[in-house]
Amino acid sequence: MDWVRSFYSQTGAWWGAAEAKITERDHRRATLLREHGGARSMRVLELGCGYGTTAAVMAAAGHTVTAVEISDRADRANDLARDAEPGRLSVVQDDFYAVRLPHHFDAVCYWNGFGVGTDADQRRLLARIARDWLTPGGVALVDVYNPFVWAGWDGNEAHKLPRPEVGYRHELYQRLTFDPVTCTATDTWWDAADPQHKISQTLRCYTPADLSLLLGGTGLRLAAVTVGGHTFDAATARPSFRELLSERHEYVAVLRHE
Ligand SMILES: C[S@@+](CC[C@H](N)C(=O)[O-])C[C@H]1O[C@@H](n2cnc3c(N)ncnc32)[C@H](O)[C@@H]1O
Repeated sequence: MDWVRSFYSQTGAWWGAAEAKITERDHRRATLLREHGGARSMRVLELGCGYGTTAAVMAAAGHTVTAVEISDRADRANDLARDAEPGRLSVVQDDFYAVRLPHHFDAVCYWNGFGVGTDADQRRLLARIARDWLTPGGVALVDVYNPFVWAGWDGNEAHKLPRPEVGYRHELYQRLTFDPVTCTATDTWWDAADPQHKISQTLRCYTPADLSLLLGGTGLRLAAVTVGGHTFDAATARPSFRELLSERHEYVAVLRHE
């Protein structure tokens, strides 16, 4: 996982000026938190918070948020924390596999990031959520990459021209591949000005059934799946369900203690 800090710091430097902005997606996530965690004000841990936009919206909704981020994107999250109501949003620049936090949380969120490293790494993280962070009765909301959609993107390439007026200052290339044996997507980027220097993220994707297997022994169970506005029990079959077969590249796993 050596690539993590540098990949997200580099890509944050490329497009952070355009993307470190609160959008409708951050508000949708805060709404999901209310739907699954309840209307009360909660102590929330956000893992891999990136620029901190969702953390800021959750803090503005009245939660007390601790946001952990390993890359330099934490600088932008710290900017948002300075604008938040005092004490509502703390940003910790650290590795969530190593960080020690002084208390437990009513909710743990990991938006758009789960799947880095091996299955053993994911299980280590899930076990930390269950044991070190989540209060009894708490909820974890974890975005999981959906293999059906990522597989369909295998071989896709993109050429992104600069749009400095909206903060995209670099001319970039992207190539996506999907490995059906390891069920991982590899997302490679390079700057047109430096084509020898390519950087990649590799993301393990899980179907809901495979995620349920992964959770075994971690202390967490898959209580529900939320995708495209539908929330359902992961044990219920959904033949021909378009959202997962072809439309959504990730789904939200709602996790609770066993
Ligand atoms: C795809 S980005 C998503 C960022 C943010 N959650 C969002 O949805 O905009 C994944 C983030 O997780 C962070 N991350 C990955 N592994 C991490 C680790 N071990 N500790 C802390 N942060 C990590 C990355 O640096 C990156 O900012």
